[in-house]
Amino acid sequence: MVASIAWLGVVPTASRLIGIPIVPFQATGGSHLALSSLRSIIVDTQFADVRDEKGETLIPPTLHDFSEVFAMDLKDALGLELEVSSNSSDADQGAIFLTLGDSGDYLDAAGAPTSEGYTLSVSANGVAVRGASPLGVWWGTRTVLQQAILNQGSLPYGEARDAPGWATRGMMLDAGRHYYPPEFVTEMCAYMSFFKQNTLHLHLSDNFNVVSQYSREFSLQLFARFRPWSDSEAVAGLNKYKNESYTREQFEQIQTACAARGVTILPEIEAPGHALAIVQWKPELGLASDLSLLNISHPETIPTMKAIWAEFLPWFHSKTVHIGADEYTAGAAEYNRFVNEMSAFIAAESGKAMRIWGTFPPRPEYGDDNVHGIVSIQHWAFFEDNPLYDYLAKNYSVLNWTTRTTSYPQSVDIRRTFHGDPATGGLWYPHIFDQKNATNNPASNNSKVLGSVAPLWNDYGQNASVVSEAYYAWREGIPALGDKQWGGDLSESEFASVLNVLHPIIPGQNLERSIPSQSSTIVEYDFKSAAPRTTTEGQTRLDDSSGNSYHASTNCPFTTDGGVGLAISSDCTVTTPLSSKGRDYTLSLELKVDGLTDPTNATLLYGGDSSLMLTPYITLFASGTYYRLNSTVPLGRWVNLSLTVSKPWANHRVVPNWSNLGDDGAREEFLAVLGVLGQFHVWAPVAIEAPLARIGGEDSGWAGQLRGMSLTSEAL
Ligand SMILES: *[C@@H]1O[C@H](CO)[C@@H](O)[C@H](O)[C@H]1NC(C)=O
Ligand SMILES: *[C@@H]1O[C@H](CO)[C@@H](O)[C@H](O)[C@H]1NC(C)=O
Ligand SMILES: *[C@@H]1O[C@H](CO)[C@@H](O)[C@H](O)[C@H]1NC(C)=O
Ligand SMILES: *[C@@H]1O[C@H](CO)[C@@H](O)[C@H](O)[C@H]1NC(C)=O
Ligand SMILES: *[C@@H]1O[C@H](CO)[C@@H](O)[C@H](O)[C@H]1NC(C)=O
Ligand SMILES: *[C@@H]1O[C@H](CO)[C@@H](O)[C@H](O)[C@H]1NC(C)=O
Ligand SMILES: *[C@@H]1O[C@H](CO)[C@@H](O)[C@H](O)[C@H]1NC(C)=O
Ligand SMILES: *[C@@H]1O[C@H](CO)[C@@H](O)[C@H](O)[C@H]1NC(C)=O
Ligand SMILES: *[C@@H]1O[C@H](CO)[C@@H](O)[C@H](O)[C@H]1NC(C)=O
Ligand SMILES: *[C@@H]1O[C@H](CO)[C@@H](O)[C@H](O)[C@H]1NC(C)=O
Ligand SMILES: *[C@@H]1O[C@H](CO)[C@@H](O)[C@H](O)[C@H]1NC(C)=O
Repeated sequence: MVASIAWLGVVPTASRLIGIPIVPFQATGGSHLALSSLRSIIVDTQFADVRDEKGETLIPPTLHDFSEVFAMDLKDALGLELEVSSNSSDADQGAIFLTLGDSGDYLDAAGAPTSEGYTLSVSANGVAVRGASPLGVWWGTRTVLQQAILNQGSLPYGEARDAPGWATRGMMLDAGRHYYPPEFVTEMCAYMSFFKQNTLHLHLSDNFNVVSQYSREFSLQLFARFRPWSDSEAVAGLNKYKNESYTREQFEQIQTACAARGVTILPEIEAPGHALAIVQWKPELGLASDLSLLNISHPETIPTMKAIWAEFLPWFHSKTVHIGADEYTAGAAEYNRFVNEMSAFIAAESGKAMRIWGTFPPRPEYGDDNVHGIVSIQHWAFFEDNPLYDYLAKNYSVLNWTTRTTSYPQSVDIRRTFHGDPATGGLWYPHIFDQKNATNNPASNNSKVLGSVAPLWNDYGQNASVVSEAYYAWREGIPALGDKQWGGDLSESEFASVLNVLHPIIPGQNLERSIPSQSSTIVEYDFKSAAPRTTTEGQTRLDDSSGNSYHASTNCPFTTDGGVGLAISSDCTVTTPLSSKGRDYTLSLELKVDGLTDPTNATLLYGGDSSLMLTPYITLFASGTYYRLNSTVPLGRWVNLSLTVSKPWANHRVVPNWSNLGDDGAREEFLAVLGVLGQFHVWAPVAIEAPLARIGGEDSGWAGQLRGMSLTSEAL
């Protein structure tokens, strides 16, 4: 029997609730409690202000804070409005009682107490969630939500006693080589939290690979980014891209919103490798042979890194920070000195622990100059280290990660989390470093295995994909990994049966940009008829005939010149109550463009995530990049344009097509230009959200006529 199954021994498989992650459960039989019969959420008065001090965040919410978010989630997910109050007893029938207790009783995979455990009790009297800490209660409330959704609004009578096997469970986003707006990061935390992941590692600085044959001049202009933005003199000039940065206020908001859902932001500022952004700021600090590597011997290098960390450490609310430190090829001795000096500095400055990517494992020949044991290691590749022998056996703490397994569009290869050969490495759990060779894996109760964090890299940079691509890459990966990182034993078929039921109600986010609709037609406006319309205060109501009542309004005049339609110009607008729709969809417009103010810069349709433009090519502008087709819209002619975007996760191919039916019916793919190593380009498909919010207006730059607009949830 493999070690991972031994850990699962605490979960008798006969008594479990299928959820993501799976929940161990002892049914008391009989019946179910309908949540609609409940009247309130009662927070135990004596614990209302308690915070979990044992987790990774330094800004843990109180039990009362968590209960307020839970109440909001019940409303959003189940339409249940329960008032939150405090009381010292749960004598009240018909309540969800949130309390703390038995904090020493919940054990992780290593047998150590965890503050993230909870007990959920359901009886005819009501529901009680008792956590080892408020964070434990929070995970218990995720179980309440999931089970209610999966059991038609009811919870089975019985008791769930549940605790995670590992303390660090999460994902890493390469926000260095791709900018993600704060709202996206926050929504991602909400998505992760629903599946009980607690860590979002943000990789905040990076660059394209520098290749030795590049000239110094070329390297100094190559794509490199440093995302935190500070107005302080100490770092003036380090970050040159304010519109693609996180200000302190924004970073604060991200951390607070994520902590409110039990997720800690773990920041990484990378050096002495992948440090081109720092070298572009201070070119004298780069190694001549590869300017993305810092010359650690240079007297200003370590002081510069200390100055950067001194500036940003006060921003960060995690107990651990990450300094990167991978792929440094210029000597172990200097590298080890750098890592140890930074670790001592960060500890002295902030009391925080420090993490690095496994790079130069300890060797006897380095003597006392090995990386000190207080630095935790994030293992990432066997060519760098064998974590069991190189680190765990030497008393280092190690975090595992999962290598990306598909290329563009990226996704987590979830089959690997559900299948494994127990004879070799076994199923996928945080302590399984090697699924093919069990000799390389520690026992599941090894207390130095911190957990696992799965990465998403953006090696091809910013314009290779739109922001939401990161969500689609993780859409199934987060829940699949979430179960195993917790210690669950959900099977692939169970996973498939519950994910689609849970997915539409995941609170705190709408990453998929879905729009509630009675049928596959989400909205349909028809301006072809001359029927009288309601006009108030100069605004004409444009009826949505889909049945969803997404009526638009406009101050544009109707015209009969060249057929009935709305006359669009920069003097008037059509505004809809919608913003954006994610894949799948077909967006159709029937329009005639008569004139362009600037033929390279006209916007037909604006949306929350993208705009449809003529540049003069038909173009989608999204995430700061113009994605152009080779065709354009002929002036002075009626055309039907339709944009079709299909599911990338179904067929691993993103196929958005514009068809210009009014012309020749040709369909064209939207392709992204991926700059490879800054040297050459490849074309790859890209999917972009439909822009839905506005037509016309001062900034639109075109005049013409519009006969109709419609959106369906199918890729036709
Ligand atoms: C607490 O609950 C008890 C029993 O239901 C009730 O009598 C009492 O009024 C409640 N106290 C508060 C402060 O709501
Ligand atoms: C690194 O910096 C030191 C001190 O300035 C200098 O002597 C050395 O040549 C530099 N090394 C490289 C490879 O650039
Ligand atoms: C291993 O590290 C822990 C701290 O994580 C420390 O308490 C313990 O003494 C170390 N053990 C050895 C053998 O060095
Ligand atoms: C641990 O890391 C290895 C790569 O070295 C990867 O194959 C494996 O899937 C990872 N496991 C987990 C649980 O992250
Ligand atoms: C499995 O790992 C052990 C320890 O690293 C190694 O000695 C052995 O050669 C590996 N076996 C195979 C089949 O790779
Ligand atoms: C880990 O589990 C094994 C048996 O599965 C046991 O022999 C060993 O003592 C345990 N180690 C710790 C540190 O609890
Ligand atoms: C930030 O500004 C630059 C320069 O104007 C522009 O090229 C880039 O697309 C902008 N980024 C975003 C995300 O809007
Ligand atoms: C546009 O045309 C150029 C030149 O024919 C071609 O290389 C490119 O792939 C085309 N782009 C798209 C998006 O089809
Ligand atoms: C656009 O489509 C409508 C039907 O949806 C059709 O009646 C009309 O003739 C089409 N217009 C052009 C220019 O193809
Ligand atoms: C994408 O980025 C690369 C690297 O910065 C650049 O060379 C390329 O021109 C960009 N492509 C587009 C379409 O912006
Ligand atoms: C396009 O026009 C808009 C609105 O007038 C303006 O804000 C924007 O800067 C223009 N873009 C370019 C690339 O000229």
